[in-house]
Formats: sequence, C-alpha cells, structure tokens
Amino acid sequence: MADIQPATATPASLQAPAEPVVIRRADYQPPDWWVKTVALEFDLDLSATQVSATLQIERNGDHERPLRLDCDGALPGSISVDGVAANWRHEGDGIAVDVSAPRATVHLTTQIAPDTNTQLMGLFASNGMLCTQCEAEGFRRIIPFVDRPDNMAVYEVLLRADKARFPVLLANGALVDAGDLEDGRHYARWHDPHPKPSYLFALVAGDLVATRDHFTTRSGAPVELAIYVREGDEGRTAHAMQALKASMEWDERVYGLEYDLPVFNIVAVSDFNMGAMENKGLNIFNSRYILADPDTATDYDYDAIEGVVAHEYFHNWSGNRVTCRDWFQLSLKEGFTVYRDQCFSADMGSEAVKRIEDVRMLRATQFPEDAGPLAHPIRPDSYMEISNFYTSTIYNKGAEVIRMMATMAGPERFRAGCDLYFARHDGEAATCEQFVRAMEDGAGLDLGQFRRWYEQAGTPQVQARLEHDADSATATLHLRQQFSPTPGQQDKPLMPIPLRTALIDRDMKAHRGEQLVLLTQSEQSVTFTGFARPPVLSINRGFSAPVTMDVARRSGDLLFLVRHDDDPFARYEALQQLVIDRLIADIGEEGAAAERAAALEDILSVFGDLVSDQRLDDSMRTEILSLPTEAFLGEQMLIVRPEAIHDARRALRKAIGTRLIDQWRIVHERASAVPYSLSREARGARKIKSLALGYIASAEAADAATIAFGQFAQADNMTDRQGATMVLASMACDERETALDSFYNRYQGNALVIDKWFSLQTGSSHAKVYEQTLELIRHKDFTLTNPNRVRALYWPFVSNQAAFHHASGRGYELLTDLILRLDPINPQTTARFIAPLGRWRRFDEDRAAKMRGCLERILAQPGLSKDTTEQVVKSLE
Ligand code: ARG
Ligand code: ZN
Repeated sequence: MADIQPATATPASLQAPAEPVVIRRADYQPPDWWVKTVALEFDLDLSATQVSATLQIERNGDHERPLRLDCDGALPGSISVDGVAANWRHEGDGIAVDVSAPRATVHLTTQIAPDTNTQLMGLFASNGMLCTQCEAEGFRRIIPFVDRPDNMAVYEVLLRADKARFPVLLANGALVDAGDLEDGRHYARWHDPHPKPSYLFALVAGDLVATRDHFTTRSGAPVELAIYVREGDEGRTAHAMQALKASMEWDERVYGLEYDLPVFNIVAVSDFNMGAMENKGLNIFNSRYILADPDTATDYDYDAIEGVVAHEYFHNWSGNRVTCRDWFQLSLKEGFTVYRDQCFSADMGSEAVKRIEDVRMLRATQFPEDAGPLAHPIRPDSYMEISNFYTSTIYNKGAEVIRMMATMAGPERFRAGCDLYFARHDGEAATCEQFVRAMEDGAGLDLGQFRRWYEQAGTPQVQARLEHDADSATATLHLRQQFSPTPGQQDKPLMPIPLRTALIDRDMKAHRGEQLVLLTQSEQSVTFTGFARPPVLSINRGFSAPVTMDVARRSGDLLFLVRHDDDPFARYEALQQLVIDRLIADIGEEGAAAERAAALEDILSVFGDLVSDQRLDDSMRTEILSLPTEAFLGEQMLIVRPEAIHDARRALRKAIGTRLIDQWRIVHERASAVPYSLSREARGARKIKSLALGYIASAEAADAATIAFGQFAQADNMTDRQGATMVLASMACDERETALDSFYNRYQGNALVIDKWFSLQTGSSHAKVYEQTLELIRHKDFTLTNPNRVRALYWPFVSNQAAFHHASGRGYELLTDLILRLDPINPQTTARFIAPLGRWRRFDEDRAAKMRGCLERILAQPGLSKDTTEQVVKSLE
C-alpha cells in the first residue's frame, strides 16, 4: 500500500508535548466507530518490528465523523480503506481517516523499535526477548487503534520471527497453526475467540523454557498450563504453578467461575513496570512474582507470588469476561479482584494474619494518599494520565469497599449479587454503577447512600464512646462521623459505615455475640441492655470499615482487649493503639513522667505475656509484637517530627529488647531448632526468629552481632538469611560488611536477590544510610532501565522516614535527581516517586519549603512527561 503521507512527517514521539489534557468521566461517549475484528501480522525483530493490521470497522450510530484512531509513536506507514489508499491527518493525540461506508476493512502498517522502548509500554525488549504491556494505553504504541476498553474485538495474530533467537512465539487464545519459513524463520498463528478490549492483547517472543501442568475444569474441560521463563529459572516455577492450580480450583468452588480456554500461559519478564498483567490466556508477570525457591525467596515472597498469580487468574472473570467501560471504572475490576485475591490468600493461609497484613498495607499507602494532594475517589472524576491512577486507592480501598458490601450482605447474599453481576454483564464493558445495581438486586441490599463510597475521597473519621448506666443496666454506644476536605471536595455528605461491634463482659471475658452497627448519620447512638457492669468496647472488628477510629478507652481497657478479645484483628489493634498512644505521648512529652513510666510498664508486661502466650501461633505473635513503622507514627501527627519519632521508637524497642532479653533469646533458639519447610509452623518460626533477633539487637546485647551473624551463616533459606542481614545492616560492626559481601557474592547474577541486597542497605537505620545509598547509586549493578532495580534501591530509602526527611533536605535532593534522570527513560515508574515529596504540608516550614523547591525544580525540566507533570502540578496546588 502506498505511503501517501509526506516522508518528513514528524513522528508523534518527537513532537513537543502538549499541555496535559484533563479527561472527565462525565464526558464519556461511546466511540464513533467500532473495531469488530483484528487480524495482526508481526515480523518480529528487536530493533525493527513490522506490524500490519486488518480491522473490520463498523460505524456506531448515524453520523459523518471520521474514523479516529489513538496513536502514540507508531504512526502508520500506510493506510487503506476497502483496498484504496487513504489520507490521514493528526487529530489530538491520534489520527483521523475519512470513511464513507457504514462498514469497512481498514488495513494499516507500522514499524516499531522495541529495543528503544524504555517506557516498557507497548511492544518492548527485555533480555533479548520481546513482550507487550498494553494496559492501559499501550496498544496504541503498536498500531493506531480505537484503544479504549469499551471497544471489544476478536483477534487473530500471526507472528513471524527468527527461529533460533525466538523459538517461542505466544499470543492470546489458542495456537491454531505453526511452522517453518525460509531463512531460518518460523511462524505461529494464534486465535482468541473471546472478544476483548485492546488492553488485554499480548504477545511474547523469545528463547524461553516452559514448566507444564494441566487442570481439568469442573465441567471436564482440559486446560494446558505453562509457565515460561528464561533458561536456568525453570527450577523456580513450582510455587507459582501450584498457586495457579489452587486459584482455578478456588474460583470454581467459591464463585462458581470456570476457565474458558484450552490453554493458560504465564510468562515471566525481568523488566516490567507493574506486578503482572492479566492478558487473556497469556498473563505476563514481573519475574519477582513468579520465581521462587527456598534459597532465593523469602516466605513473604512466596505469599506475594501466590497472591499475584491468583489476582491475575481471577481477572479472567473480574476484568476480562466483564471488563470496564472506561478507565474511570478501573476499580470495578481492580478493587473486586484484590478483594477476591485477599480472600483466596486468607483461605490458603491464616485469615487473621492476612487481614492484619492487608490493613497494615492500606494504612501505609492508601491512608496517606487519601489525606494528601493526590487523593481521589475509587471512581475518579478526572485524570490527565491514566497510568497515574493504578493507585492504592483504586486497588486497596476499592477492595475495602467490596468487602463492606460483602460484610453487609453476608456470604450467601454476596455470592448471589456476584452471580447476578457476572450473568448480567458477561461479555460486556461495565461500570461500577452496574456492579452496585447487581449487588442491590442480587443481594437484596439498599446501596443508595453506599454509592458515596465511590464518589468521595478521604478517609472518614469515626469517634466512638461507650456510656454505661448502672440503674438501667444499659450501655450506650455514641458514634460520630467526620470528614476532612480533599482536593475538589470541600463538604462531604455522610457515609454508611458498617462497624462490627462487640461488648465484652469484664468477668466472663466474653461477649454475647457480635453486631453489625451501621453508622449512617453524623451522630448516632445505639443502646445495649443487660449490662450491670460497664463492658469493654470492641469496635471495627476485623477492620470492617476503612476508617480511622478514635475510641474513648482507658489504657486498662486496651490491655484487657489485648488479652481477651476473640477477634484477632481487634487484639492486634488494641496493642498497636497502646504503643502508638505511648509513643505519641513520648514524642510530644505529654503527661507526667510517672504516668508515662507506668504506661511503659504496662506495655512491657503485656509484651512479656504475649511472647510466650500459648494461644498465639508464631506468625500472629510476630504481627502483634511488631512496632508500628516510623512513617505510620508520622501519620498520627499533624506535623511530622522525623527525629523525635525515630528516637522515641528506638528507645521503646530498646526497652522491650532489654527487659525481655531472656525471652527473646529463648524464642530465637526455639525457632532456630525448627527445620526448614513450608509448613505453617516452620514459617511462623522463621518469622518470630528474625523479630526476636531484631529485639536482641535493639537491646544492644554484647553478643547481638554474633547471634545475627550466626543466623546468617547457618541459614539454609532466604527468609533467615535476609532477616539476619536486615538486622546486621542497621548495626555498626564488622559482621555487617562480611554478611553483605557474602550475600552479594553468593547471588551475583540473580537480579531478584541482588534487588534485596540493595533494599536491605537503603532501608536500614544505619547512621550512614545516606552515604551508603549514594554509593549504591554508583554501584555497577545499579541501572535506571530496570524498574525492579530502581524501586529496590529508592523505595526503601524514601520510606525510611528519618533518612529521607533529614533536616538538610539531602534526601529530597537525592530523590529529585532520580526523578529528573528517570523521567525521560520511564515516566510511568518516575511518576510514582512524586507522592513522597507531595506530602510537604505535613512537615515543618523548613522541610516543606525544601520539598516544594524540589517539586518546582522537577516541573522546570523541559520535556517533562505527562505522567510526572500531573503528579507534580497536583502536589504543588
Ligand atoms: N491490570 C494489572 C493488574 O492489576 C495492572 C496493569 C497496569 N499496568 C500499567 N502499566 N499501568 O493486575
Ligand atoms: Zn489487577
């Protein structure tokens, strides 16, 4: 086909970036043209891949508007409509072609250079292989297309490549044909019968080896499973395969949902912006969420793999069979799928520990986001760059919103709501509103007021107070809800807040049954009868609502709950609250010294009891006995005081370590005697072992370095080795350098473990962590082109409150230098690093000015990406 465009046309990627355009949910319009079928042909090559596409298009409605195709870099070499060469023109960030017939066949070609695609969106090269990432808007970097999730089409894909370099050729669906070509090339033709949006398109070409297994669905359909990895990694796929089969079985059993293709392929790649991607029949994973063996992966890594494999598999229904109408509905698939993977992981392991981990994560990432300049509802109203909205709010708060509906409905009715949702919308691109309606109709809930959880940003604050009246033998719970303004939302309507509540009798040390109290008004009281003596209030059990609770309770009541509450989350929460109250009092030097000393005694005595409490398993014990992070303590203060927080927390750790030193030693020895296995007991032992080691080190025991080095040297697994290295990394001793060197030498060449080696150092509380981080930035193994490596080095440093917020501002400068260097290479990964600087309002004037100064320096950089620009502009407002 003739190229009728002048050869001098500037590629879109070289044009000066326009001012970011704001896209609004209220402006949604269906596309003018539908693409119904897509036939793609790829001549794959690292530096010059030829693509040709044949699209069957159909006019949507009665209009004379042109065919508009989204386009990002991959301008068409040629376009024809029904076999006739066509003219095209730039229009916005796409192209327009005039088409007169109501239906037409459009043929177009492009050429792309995967090996220069450092953004890792579209078709890119990673370690000599080729793969794609199309969500959200990567497909338009391959060919111009109606690149939006409501356009669903059937795809047929023909891949051609050099057989020696790319022996494996994969795409969505099932393989229909394959064979050899001339000149050492070969081909594979894939067909996916399920209509899908372009963001679910995927291809992979490379020299990969597969681990294979199979699964038979409940209705008897056979499914071939394969996990493709680089040669040498095939010994590390067993856990991921196990997780895949368990997920398939779980979704059938719990949701009645079966897999719908004869093959399910997973490919692991080392260069990836996110965790993984649910492309239909061809999931592509960041290798860190696939590869594991005891020598290289921690127990935590094993759990993360299980969770992410399940998450992507569950998307086959919550995401692929029912997808999103537009990107404002992202939480429709992400919030729901996170909720589903959380429940799966709870079923596979410990429900109590999983809940604590999930809440800790929500509080560490989502609460700060919701309280800062980037706050947005789980269904946003506008965005500039959709990649910036793959947030903890969309994912984790989105999951909490689904969980609240599940709590209010109960398991059977929730399942009925889900069934109705899938039955109604199978094969469609749906909205959050449609999910809510299906839940109302199927579960029989009235979600009128509940819809506000989709509309409103910010974490609700709930105050609770229990009032006892001895004469009437009643206890009255007084509740109140409040909201802080978030960007664009000043006055907020009231939310329905479901609070699982129990009143615990002081003598019986038990309650008469839990109640679900639904707080719907600004102030509300509930009276409970039959309480001659005041009971102890246990509220927001299991963290039933994603809110902050301010409960008027004496520390004696909290101690009672730590010892007697039958809800494991509430137990954990009670001790955390005691510790937080005590640390905040220390930091602010509030209260009389004698009072604070008494509070410390309480904490030490309850810690002492819990270290050996037989009712706790070691995993739960570790959760309960871990102190809140410095960052979380900062969140509790209006103005964060990094040094004071650091010192107060360290002093408390030292007190706990010192007072209970004998117990910590016993625990460490007991746990060290448990041989390695993946059993719950052995995993619990490894978890408490490193916690005990940390407290021994905090006590500054003379032999702490020796014990830590012993754990390091004797470790036959990564959990113990990493745990020991983490403790040593914060110490000033010769063992520290010896362990770090030996760790590095042992794992040189294993990128995922070398990532850990970077993180252990930049996340430490060593006095020289800043200098050490600077040195690591210059290390020969550090590179800006691998997102895992960038995150491994910088995230722990940025999350290291005392180091990042050093009064000199040097931590801010270090991050700003990264942002300016990384933005031209990988804007999506860069933009994630803006939020820590955007929290300037929470710091003293001096720090705030320095943080703002950095944001302004970033904004001044010519050619700054749309991703980073959006986050900086919002952070400065
Ligand atoms: N849908 C993927 C998941 O949650 C996330 C992909 C997002 N990728 C991106 N580049 N924005 O499983
Ligand atoms: Zn997802």
